[in-house]
Amino acid sequence: MSFLLILTTFLVATSAQTEADALLKWKKSLYQSAALASWSTRNSTSHCSWFGITCDPAGNVVQISVQSSSINGTLDSLNFSSFSNLVSLNLSDNILQGSIPSGISNLSKLNSLDLGTNSFGNFVPPEIGDLSELVYLSLFNNNLVGPVPSQLSRLSKVRHFDLGHNHLNNTEYSNFSAMPSVLYLSLFLNNLTGFFPQFILKCTNLTYLHLSQNAFFGPIPASLANLSRLRELHLGTNNFIGGIPSVLSLISGLRVLELGDNSLGGPLPSSLSQLKFLERLDVTNARINSTIPPELGVCTNLNYIHLASNQLSGPLPFTFVNLTKMRLFDINSNNLSGEIPGHLPDSLSQLPNLYYFSVFTNNLTGTIPPDFGRNGMLQHVDLSYNSFFVPTGKAFKDDSPHAYVGNPGLCGDFQGLISCYAANKNSHSHHKILILVFLLIAGVVLLLAIILAILVFSRKKRVEKIEIERANKDVTNSIWERDGKFSFSDIVNATDNFNEVFCIGQGEFGSVYKAELSVGQVIAVKRIQAQDAEDVQDINKKSFENEIRALTEVRHRNIVKLHGFCLSGDYMYLVYEYLEKGSFSDVLYGSQGERELDWAMRVKVIRGIAHALAYLHHDCTPPIVHRDIKLNNILLDSEFEPRLSDFGTAKLLGLGSTSWISMAGTYGYMAPELAYTMQFTEKCDVYSFGVVALEIMMGQHPGDLLSSLPSVSSSLENDLLLKDVLDQRLTPPPPPPPDNWLKKWFFYSR
Ligand SMILES: *[C@@H]1O[C@H](CO)[C@@H](O)[C@H](O)[C@H]1NC(C)=O
Ligand SMILES: *[C@@H]1O[C@H](CO)[C@@H](O)[C@H](O)[C@H]1NC(C)=O
Ligand SMILES: *[C@@H]1O[C@H](CO)[C@@H](O)[C@H](O)[C@H]1NC(C)=O
Ligand SMILES: *[C@@H]1O[C@H](CO)[C@@H](O)[C@H](O)[C@H]1NC(C)=O
Ligand SMILES: *[C@@H]1O[C@H](CO)[C@@H](O)[C@H](O)[C@H]1NC(C)=O
Ligand SMILES: *[C@@H]1O[C@H](CO)[C@@H](O)[C@H](O)[C@H]1NC(C)=O
Ligand SMILES: *[C@@H]1O[C@H](CO)[C@@H](O)[C@H](O)[C@H]1NC(C)=O
Ligand SMILES: *[C@@H]1O[C@H](CO)[C@@H](O)[C@H](O)[C@H]1NC(C)=O
Ligand SMILES: *[C@@H]1O[C@H](CO)[C@@H](O)[C@H](O)[C@H]1NC(C)=O
Ligand SMILES: *[C@@H]1O[C@H](CO)[C@@H](O)[C@H](O)[C@H]1NC(C)=O
Ligand SMILES: *[C@@H]1O[C@H](CO)[C@@H](O)[C@H](O)[C@H]1NC(C)=O
Ligand SMILES: *[C@@H]1O[C@H](CO)[C@@H](O)[C@H](O)[C@H]1NC(C)=O
Repeated sequence: MSFLLILTTFLVATSAQTEADALLKWKKSLYQSAALASWSTRNSTSHCSWFGITCDPAGNVVQISVQSSSINGTLDSLNFSSFSNLVSLNLSDNILQGSIPSGISNLSKLNSLDLGTNSFGNFVPPEIGDLSELVYLSLFNNNLVGPVPSQLSRLSKVRHFDLGHNHLNNTEYSNFSAMPSVLYLSLFLNNLTGFFPQFILKCTNLTYLHLSQNAFFGPIPASLANLSRLRELHLGTNNFIGGIPSVLSLISGLRVLELGDNSLGGPLPSSLSQLKFLERLDVTNARINSTIPPELGVCTNLNYIHLASNQLSGPLPFTFVNLTKMRLFDINSNNLSGEIPGHLPDSLSQLPNLYYFSVFTNNLTGTIPPDFGRNGMLQHVDLSYNSFFVPTGKAFKDDSPHAYVGNPGLCGDFQGLISCYAANKNSHSHHKILILVFLLIAGVVLLLAIILAILVFSRKKRVEKIEIERANKDVTNSIWERDGKFSFSDIVNATDNFNEVFCIGQGEFGSVYKAELSVGQVIAVKRIQAQDAEDVQDINKKSFENEIRALTEVRHRNIVKLHGFCLSGDYMYLVYEYLEKGSFSDVLYGSQGERELDWAMRVKVIRGIAHALAYLHHDCTPPIVHRDIKLNNILLDSEFEPRLSDFGTAKLLGLGSTSWISMAGTYGYMAPELAYTMQFTEKCDVYSFGVVALEIMMGQHPGDLLSSLPSVSSSLENDLLLKDVLDQRLTPPPPPPPDNWLKKWFFYSR
């Protein structure tokens, strides 16, 4: 009995001695081992209390953890045979060099081996494949070369397998059988080449796969979708081709999908919207040439979207305003068009967590939303090289000018931009110079000028045709791309192919239909017929194009919203928001007029229209003149908030030819000076607005009052009282202001 005890003690002591000796011998071989100062025979306690050493109760070393300790040297003199009980070896983040010794296979109980972030070179010893208990293997970030030895696939228990960031080449992994239990597999940043490694497709429990930054080629196998537990898939920076397999959408738990810097081509599959947990989508620089599927707006966990440097076209999906977790949005260098979607406060640029917003080098238009980046998280904005105009936000205060250069229409009081005033002046003087040059030429060679004029005219016609064709193209996308909710055929179905039953109005240029879509949305569709007579057609198309141009560039709560537009057959269609109360004149002159429209309500409508006009005239560059302000063109929503509509005759001042008057304006609302000047200016709108304001307050068109304008002041003073002018259906408003406001208004407006 006592003999056995002594024997055991002796054996343990011997083994302990051997382990301690082996450690000290190794320490002695190191160039730099300050962290191992406690590894010393003079230390009264056993080696089990040395830094980084853990023993089992019997005194055998089971764990060596001396990571991040600046240990400089090799493993050559470490006698692995001495550590027959070692379970875990962590030497990561040191300065160890030389080869990984093949003797490491003598650590027969080893379960975790971490030699990551050192300077080990040479080949990966195939003997690592003999460590049959290994669960965790990391050789990450060394200088290992040569093949990934096929023997490693014998590691039937391994769950974490990381050979990333070395110089491994060759394709011996083609001899790999499956590593059945691997969950984490990284071969990231090596020199590996060949087709997608087949063995990976058999690793059915895989949750993390990182093959980025190698030279793999060929297609991404669709059977990757069988790895149904994948959470992260990194295949970026390789030479994969053949598109993004849409079946990847079957990997329902995918959080990270990184496919950037490949030659994939093809579309961004809308099926990816089935990835409900997707947080990070990176398809940068992968030759993707579709639109951005609006369906992705349901992936509300998305917080990083990298789609830069592709050939993406079409608009930014409106649905993205729902991606409230979004932190980074980078779509620079594509062909995207349209506006930053959403209406304040639900605009894409107002997402609460957004800190990086980069859309440079696209063809985005519209105003930059006021209070851009109001959320305060936004750190990085780059809007440069687009077609934005009018920066109105305060968000630019900290940004360097490069964030918005390259937008030809952009001006403002910001460093790096010309002021809007100067911009206008410049373009005017620019025009003047052009005209001068033209006159000079015309004066010198009259005949040449005539020929030139003929040429210019015919060219202009062609340009116009092309423009219409382009609008045509835009349009086919537009109805369904802008909102992502309905298509043209939905509208046809909802209106029973534009049956009269659904017609809610008739204007000079066409009919308006109400369409209740199956999704529950109600919209108004304006159908404009292109007639046979060519000139009428031209006018209609002109009107259509003007309306589109003006409306797509305009965002205001008192201006009717355009959902989309479309050209189909002989008809043109404009899809607006539907406004429950219809046109203001119907309400004012309807049977309920006096009951529904009290004085406060009428003031609210006038104020709303004033805001809308102020916006069109002063906040838009170039200013937009509506040209047809009248009661019929004011619509009301359910709250009686007015919306200005019908830009059919609007004209952008400063763009294109000089003022053009045909078919614009409505008699009774037109400014009298128009008859002399034939010039539509903002002042014409202001005049019409005055007529409308009077009409609203009087409850009838102020026709007679206006025709007696020259003597109106005297007639007001002498025999016209305010209470006689106001709408007789209502009781006069309470306490009249001290002065006669109506009279005052007349004086000022003259
Ligand atoms: C002995 O080892 C223990 C545990 O690492 C350490 O705290 C102590 O300072 C060491 N003593 C000497 C003399 O190195
Ligand atoms: C490691 O030790 C060698 C030999 O003394 C020395 O040349 C080298 O600079 C050391 N490396 C570092 C990172 O200290
Ligand atoms: C390594 O350790 C084993 C077992 O402790 C021993 O048999 C062998 O001689 C040692 N090798 C060297 C080179 O010290
Ligand atoms: C080894 O140590 C590093 C640094 O502390 C740590 O990050 C790593 O997870 C460890 N390895 C294992 C297998 O525990
Ligand atoms: C240690 O490993 C080497 C290389 O794999 C092998 O030749 C040797 O037999 C092993 N020694 C022991 C004691 O297992
Ligand atoms: C792989 O790397 C090794 C070592 O650098 C080199 O000898 C070998 O030629 C390379 N093989 C291939 C296929 O590139
Ligand atoms: C990969 O191989 C190329 C040549 O085939 C070589 O230029 C490059 O340095 C290698 N990269 C690494 C990380 O070894
Ligand atoms: C890998 O497989 C090929 C043929 O399938 C064979 O020629 C080669 O010897 C194998 N390599 C290893 C290391 O098993
Ligand atoms: C895969 O995981 C399941 C459930 O966690 C487990 O039952 C199964 O044994 C695993 N497969 C392998 C090959 O490890
Ligand atoms: C998109 O790319 C694919 C393959 O690269 C090509 O077949 C297809 O015609 C392209 N589509 C468009 C609209 O350019
Ligand atoms: C945003 O999400 C809500 C709730 O899921 C949905 O009702 C709404 O239609 C979505 N908006 C857009 C623009 O997709
Ligand atoms: C950008 O869009 C405008 C009109 O929306 C068009 O005239 C222009 O050609 C487009 N530019 C590019 C580079 O696509």
